[in-house]
Amino acid sequence: MLDTAMQHQTPAAGGPDGKPLLSVIVPSFNERPNVAPMIAKLDAALAGIAWEVIYVDDNSPDGTTQEVRRIAAGDTRVRCIRRIGRRGLASAVIEGALSSSAAYVAVIDGDLQHDETQLPVMLEALQGGRYDLAVASRHVAGGDNAGLSSRWRHVLSDGGIRLAQAFLPVRLTDPMSGFFMLPRPLFEELARNLNGQGFKILLDLVLSSPVPLRVLEVPARFRERVAGESKMDALVMVQFGGLLLDKVFGGLLPLRFFSFALVGALGVLVHLLVLGILHKTTLLGFGTEQAAATAVAMAFNFQLNNAITYRDQRLKGPRLWQGLILFMVVCGFGAVANVGIARVLYEQNTTWTIAGGLGAMIGVVWNYAVSATLVWRTR
Ligand code: GDD
Ligand code: MN
Repeated sequence: MLDTAMQHQTPAAGGPDGKPLLSVIVPSFNERPNVAPMIAKLDAALAGIAWEVIYVDDNSPDGTTQEVRRIAAGDTRVRCIRRIGRRGLASAVIEGALSSSAAYVAVIDGDLQHDETQLPVMLEALQGGRYDLAVASRHVAGGDNAGLSSRWRHVLSDGGIRLAQAFLPVRLTDPMSGFFMLPRPLFEELARNLNGQGFKILLDLVLSSPVPLRVLEVPARFRERVAGESKMDALVMVQFGGLLLDKVFGGLLPLRFFSFALVGALGVLVHLLVLGILHKTTLLGFGTEQAAATAVAMAFNFQLNNAITYRDQRLKGPRLWQGLILFMVVCGFGAVANVGIARVLYEQNTTWTIAGGLGAMIGVVWNYAVSATLVWRTR
């Protein structure tokens, strides 16, 4: 009885029985000004379809949640999950989709950059049963990428796509797309294998499927952002920076060397920090203090190299300790070579900067070459 009564109060839910056929998941962070226009656009695009929208807002300081709630007060198709103390696009999408009971779930950005008029096209294709996943692609005929905020973003995006395609079991011209739709039961099935980190939820889905998904790509424009700002730049850059470096220096200098040298530079800072503290707070004498600082910096460098530079062949258990000792011995020789060469150069009237710099460089190259062959054994 109560159920029927409630359904009569909520004709806005669209379907004859008031149940949504499609849940549109909108991850949001600081999208307040875009909420009302977004919902109006969904309303127009999805006329005649029983839909609901689920915002998943990471407690945006600009009050995105409150704005969604305000609209939800007069429209039962509008829902909001407010997450506190968490951030992340992929995990927001997963939570939103798992909160749905509709037959289909779509994911779309909340900043009006995606072309929502493609939603009915995607839905119809999926209802036909010939596809498992519909993806809006900027790289099929009719799609475009104009809304990417800068040339740099274009380069990053293209680079990322190429990298992703190397791993993909299915053809996807736009694996970074944040706009797609699939049957909810399929999402539930794949959900347990999702990693949920970062921005690449679509890639994650496709890679999580034990069988290749049947994918339909629909062309989509990527509009420019009008209000608010992108949250992706810094992260995307970190994620794809390594790839770009590799492309630019491809073959010339191994990426590992950069990583190793960078870790070494951090090690120098650690060394000075430890030395400074010991010098100010103990009476060990400079020699001992310097030796202790060196040992700490070496251990720090070893850990960082093991975690980052050589993450693909990370040493564990007893091999970790063996590796640490070997690393310290290798770097000890490196330091002796460094100091020796710098001193000889300095005595031959080379300026202290050049003598010191060359000594350090030879030390790094030695440490790198020898630890790569002895400690981490790369071919
Ligand atoms: N809940 C939540 N938490 N939402 C977030 C977060 C977060 O930490 N970060 C971003 N969002 C939301 C934004 O509010 C927006 O609705 C959507 O996720 C996309 O974020 P943008 O910051 O606008 O991303 P973009 O426009 O730079 O990137 C778009 O293009 C990429 C490919 O170039 C997105 O569609 C990406 O999904 C896509 O990979
Ligand atoms: Mn955006």
